[in-house]
Amino acid sequence: MRYRTLGDLKVSAVGLGAMPLSIEGRPDEERALATVRAALDAGVTLFDTADSYHLPGAEPGHNERLLARALAGADVLVATKGGRGRPADGSWTVDGDPRHLKRAAEGSLRRLGVEAIGLYQLHKPDPAVPFEESVGALRELLDEGKIRVAGVSNAAAEQIRTARAILGDRLVSVQNRYSPEVRDSEPELRLCAELGLAFLPWSPLGGISRSSLDGPSGLAAAGHFATFHEIAAERGVSPQQVGLAWLLAKSPTVIPIPGASRPETIRDSAEAAELVLSGAELARLERLG
Ligand SMILES: NC(=O)c1ccc[n+]([C@@H]2O[C@H](COP(=O)([O-])OP(=O)(O)OC[C@H]3O[C@@H](n4cnc5c(N)ncnc54)[C@H](OP(=O)(O)O)[C@@H]3O)[C@@H](O)[C@H]2O)c1
Repeated sequence: MRYRTLGDLKVSAVGLGAMPLSIEGRPDEERALATVRAALDAGVTLFDTADSYHLPGAEPGHNERLLARALAGADVLVATKGGRGRPADGSWTVDGDPRHLKRAAEGSLRRLGVEAIGLYQLHKPDPAVPFEESVGALRELLDEGKIRVAGVSNAAAEQIRTARAILGDRLVSVQNRYSPEVRDSEPELRLCAELGLAFLPWSPLGGISRSSLDGPSGLAAAGHFATFHEIAAERGVSPQQVGLAWLLAKSPTVIPIPGASRPETIRDSAEAAELVLSGAELARLERLG
């Protein structure tokens, strides 16, 4: 495993996004626990979760409880989030009210069974609440010692600068969607590189589908993502590994958090930390736009 820095912590260059272990389509508990243990065995030391990773309408915190059980005693960083909810209709609501965030963090603390949350992230800016106020709740949680370091998610460049101004170097990470398919957070990725903030791409495998592995017709269906599959075939690795290695090459501050609901997939993804693409390979992938 290779490592990258997040604040003054060293974490595996590839983390586990634990969301698929708790939402719709989730595996049974035995497989979920086996997936987390496979990540640990593969050297993964960063685990991303949220209080809202649970079935619609259910109690918050299924994913946090699962990680707490599977990781008991392990020397890893659990990064959780607050500020979203999952009512019975299956939607994802947003609540950036400082009172809610502080209550949510208390719940996460209890479920994770820790004295202080390793990394606490504002899940999404709430358009109904001034961003400064939501980030102010993170500052209070930091001052109270309830969270060690803070991050923001789904944040625009201006919001990252605002959070930095409020939190100083206690802001250590930004988690935005970024993948071969969805690259609109390029400015935020660049800003994080400039400021030395970890950039955690969520849904990092977007565009590299499983079905497109199925032979030449599948490759054609993969459209311009076919280059990821071609390089994978040349290297004898999975296209998902090529996608993750491409992300890692974007900047030394990028730390992808691929999801998994099976031990095999996180084992494969973790190996991407060791895969270094050549300049020529990266140029072929960049030409895709
Ligand atoms: N901050 C936010 O707003 C936000 C939003 C969405 C997600 N996230 C975070 O980002 C994490 C990742 O996103 P995601 O789970 O939506 O999408 P993803 O990582 O792009 O894709 C996950 C899917 O890809 C498959 N996969 C993973 N590695 C693979 C490999 N090496 N080979 C083949 N298939 C592989 C998994 O299959 P199996 O299920 O078969 O293992 C899983 O179904 C989430 O778990 C969550 O922690 C954050």
